[in-house]
This record gives sequence, C-alpha cells and structure tokens, in this order.
Amino acid sequence: MCGIVGYIGERQAQPILLNCLSHLEYRGYDSCGIAVSDGAVKVYKDAVRVAELKKTMPDFDGSLGIGHTRWATHGEPSRVNAHPHGDCQNEVSVVHNGIINNFLKLKQQLTSEGHTFVSETDSEVIPHLIEKYYAGDLEKAVERALADIEGSYAIIVMGYGENTLIAARKDSPLVIALGDRENYIASDVPAVLDYTSRVIYLEDGDIATVTAGGVSFRNGGKTAKRSEHKVDWSVEEARKGGYEHYMLKEIHEQPRVIRDTLGDWLPNGEPFEDLKKMSEDGTRTLLMLGCGTSYHAALVGKYIAQEMLGLPVRAELASEFNYHGRALPETLAVTLTQSGETADVLMAIKRLKDVGCRVMAITNVNGSSVSRLADHTIITRAGPEISVAATKSFLAQLMVLYWLMMSCARVEPKRQAEMVLQLRHMASRVTQVLDSEAEIAERAGYLAKYNDVFFIGRGINYPVALEGALKLKEISYVHAEGFAAGELKHGPFALLGREKPVIAVLTQDATHQTMLTSIREVKARGSPLMVLASEGDDSADSLADFTITVPRVDPLFSPVVNTVTLQLLAYHIARKRGCPVDFPKNLAKSVTVE
Ligand code: G6P
Repeated sequence: MCGIVGYIGERQAQPILLNCLSHLEYRGYDSCGIAVSDGAVKVYKDAVRVAELKKTMPDFDGSLGIGHTRWATHGEPSRVNAHPHGDCQNEVSVVHNGIINNFLKLKQQLTSEGHTFVSETDSEVIPHLIEKYYAGDLEKAVERALADIEGSYAIIVMGYGENTLIAARKDSPLVIALGDRENYIASDVPAVLDYTSRVIYLEDGDIATVTAGGVSFRNGGKTAKRSEHKVDWSVEEARKGGYEHYMLKEIHEQPRVIRDTLGDWLPNGEPFEDLKKMSEDGTRTLLMLGCGTSYHAALVGKYIAQEMLGLPVRAELASEFNYHGRALPETLAVTLTQSGETADVLMAIKRLKDVGCRVMAITNVNGSSVSRLADHTIITRAGPEISVAATKSFLAQLMVLYWLMMSCARVEPKRQAEMVLQLRHMASRVTQVLDSEAEIAERAGYLAKYNDVFFIGRGINYPVALEGALKLKEISYVHAEGFAAGELKHGPFALLGREKPVIAVLTQDATHQTMLTSIREVKARGSPLMVLASEGDDSADSLADFTITVPRVDPLFSPVVNTVTLQLLAYHIARKRGCPVDFPKNLAKSVTVE
C-alpha cells in the first residue's frame, strides 16, 4: 500500500526522506519518488526500489520535502505514474495514499479548463485542483481542493515557495512526528522512529499545517486541537535484529508477544463487561470480523467463543459484510485488525455503529483509525509487524481472544483453572516449536518443489488450515488452498494425486477419528502426505510420508502451536524458492483502500 513521508526542518531533507521511505517498504510498493524544495520544487521518481532511487538520484538542496512509495491502483508502475505529482507549472508537489473515486470527472473538468495531465493516476488531479484554487495561501487552496474530492486520501503538499507542508487525511492513516525544530509526516510510525517517538495522529477531515517550529490543525473549517502520543516501540523492535528476514524475526518474537499480551491481564484481568453480560443473559449475538489473517483469527475466535460461552457466534469477512451483512442492534461486534487501518474493517465498523451495535476492536496499533472508532479497544502487544505476511499479530490476536472468552466463560471452575494454566504455558510451547525449526526447514525442502499444496483441518484447526495456506501462497507464490477436511469429498478429491501434496492438521479432540479417515482418503488418492500431530500421537505415522510433531496442548489451544509450525514451514519453502519473503509482489501490509 502506498506510503507517504514529509520532512521540514533545518537539515537537508533528501537523505531523511529516503531513510523514512526505506522504513515504509514493508507496506508493499512498486515505484517511489521524492520532491525537495529550496523555494523551487525538484522531483525525482522511478519504478525502482528505494535503494536504487538513492543510488541514481542527483543531490537536491532543500530542507523541506515529501516522498512516496507507490502501490499501483490507477495505471501501471512507471516513472510517470510514480509520485510526487505536480501541477502544470511544477510549483506544487503532492504525494497521495488512497483512491479518488471521482477523479475521471475532475480530470475532464480540469482538462477542459486547460490543465494538462501526464499520468494515468487518480492522484494527479490533486495538484491541478490546488493550482486552480491557489491565490497566495497554500493551506486554503488545499482545503478548497479537497472539498471537490470524493474518496479516501492521506496527502502531503508543498509548493509555491511556502515554508510549510500541508497534510490532510480522510480514511487513510497519517501521523505527524515531532522533533526539535523539525517535524515529520508519515503514513506509519516505523518510518520516523529513527528520529522521534512523539507523534500526533490525524483525525478524519484534519488539515495540518506543519512548519519546522510547530503544527496547527483545522477540521471542518475550524481550528482543532490534537493530542500528542508517545510511541513505546523501540527502533530495534522495528528492525530486523540479526534475522535474515523480518518474517523470521517476527515468528521468533512470538513467545515474547504471548507473554506481553497476556501480561496485561493474567492474573488480575477484568472481564470485558459487554461480553460478560452477554454470556450471562444470552440475549445478544456475537459477530467477529476481519480481513486476511485477522479474519482467520476471527474464525478461531468463533470456535473459542462457542466452546467457552456456549453461544452461537458468527465470523465474517469485513469486505463481504459491508455489502451483504446484517446485524441487529443488540449484536456485539468484535473486529480484528493488526494495522487498525484496513479500509474494509473501518467500513464495517461504521456500518455496525449506524445500526446501533457496540463494537470492540482488537488491534496492534494504538491510536489507529479503528481504535478511535470502536467503543472499546484492546491493544495487542505484538510490537511493529513489518513483514507483509502477518505472524506475531495473529498469535497476539488469539491470546486476546482466549483471555476475553475465558474471562467470561460459563465453564466449571476446574476447567477455567486448567485453561489459565494452558495459557500460562503457551509461550514455552511456542518456544518448543521454534526449537524444532531445523526439522521443519528440512520438511520444507521436500515440499518446495511442488506448485500446489493443500491444507486440511477440522473444527478449531480448520481456520489454521486456511491460515497455513494463506501464509504459503502469500510469500512463496505456491498455489495453496485450505479446506475443512470433511469437504474434500465434495470437490477437492478431483485434484488429488502425486503432484498435489496435502498437509493435514491432526488434533486430539472430537475430530481426531474423522481426521484420520480424511488422511486415509488422501493417501488412497496418491497425494504426498504430511501430518502435524501432537507429541505421543502416532496414529497417522503409518500413513504419512512425513510427520511433524507439535507440542501437546489442550486441543482448544492447538491453533497456537499448529500455526507457528505452519508459519515456519511457509517461511522455509519461500526461502528455498528464493522469494522476497518480506515484500511479496502485489501485496501490501496495510490495505487502506476498499
Ligand atoms: C493485508 C495484509 C495481510 C493482513 C490483511 C488484514 O492483506 O497483507 O497480512 O492479514 O491485510 O490486515 P489487518 O491490518 O486488518 O489485520
């Protein structure tokens, strides 16, 4: 997803902007560029990585500037479509993240008024609108231009020799970071962590005027006040820390993430009142929502909630809910999102609030849009997740879900105590999985030659099969699909055979026998078979080509150890296939467009 940065201060802007951009690479991009001003605007951009741009670009003098990493939506990745974009006279320069829905109409109008466009992007209408409205005051011109725009945006504008940056947001994240006689603007906090940890999050509709000495805000034509936050992520937390890839580092951080996330509640956690009331009177319904990996956490949450609260629970994709979903006002919605900025999730929350539902958010980013929109927010303690493929944020979400549901559970005290004990031991169980990485990497070597891989699971491990497949396809470009094992015979059987390995997640719960049946069925159809089985369970050994042993835990908690195993498997397959693990093609970390 596009990333934007801005700098204004006393130092040379160019190296700072390039450094900030390199820390936004994780969001996914295909081209990049920067503009620097010393009174006159100079722009350099191309369809290359930031490191390449740095090597080839000339030195630009100037202590204010803007930068952009582009994730193509309108027009192919190319130099001309890359940002920053300018007006006809090259007096104003703009970087934009988001989508302008009415850009065609605006472009036609502006063209008829004599403006010349050079790119295929929707974003280019912004500098032309500013040019149209500029009458000596850049902030006013931006405000007027934005009034014409329908869609979502986070923008930074500079130009006309003014010693200010103008930043604005609507439905796309933007943060201002405060330094000493210098200020920064960025899509995301990791971009600026080298320089400062003091940040102000823009609200929807905000227009900020940023100078080296200060920031002022306007919203809806009036002056607005915004408060400063301190980011508690260290630079080290946001960097690779000696691992070959962010993804591997993030997988290995999971024991710490579990401890930190649970540390907020165990042992004195208060139950979430809405959920407790609901489990007591049974009158409400629970709806879990998310996208991508967070949706898989929602699906696991559904199984946890059904078992612990004894309530029917729905889990839905936010993107589907937004058009066809229905919720009654008495629904309690639990929305999951690592970034807190996923456009589909934001839309879903707005839709839920419109019908009067209470909305709870589980997110990794304090101060994110979702956290500001929800009635109640729980922050996961995963720390910054840089790799596009979500790993530690998923586990942190699961921990929150376990604790939430347990704190309101309608189960015997003995069972409750057992579950608390399981949670307490979860970090060391994950460490056990990490300790078996060499064995998992060896299995990955065997699987790396296949181009189609199927994952099967049942019950609470059905979402784990989906997540295992998602991880693999995201980072290794292998076609991978997850199935509920019981569904194999309703279609996927037709695909099985020597070239189509199947990875089966076997758990010692009520699904064990029927999973074994599915495993036999797979074997009978000739597919290479790998089984994830709990320590001491040798029931599939004679059928499987390979078994991977996972630590024995209560079946309710088995998604934790199984997922970490599949994360490592996907990582090592992608590595063996020589894929760019952290930044897969066409994918973005934070999807801020619908
Ligand atoms: C993108 C990421 C996925 C992530 C999904 C939802 O597609 O590449 O890894 O699961 O967005 O993101 P969220 O921030 O809402 O959890």
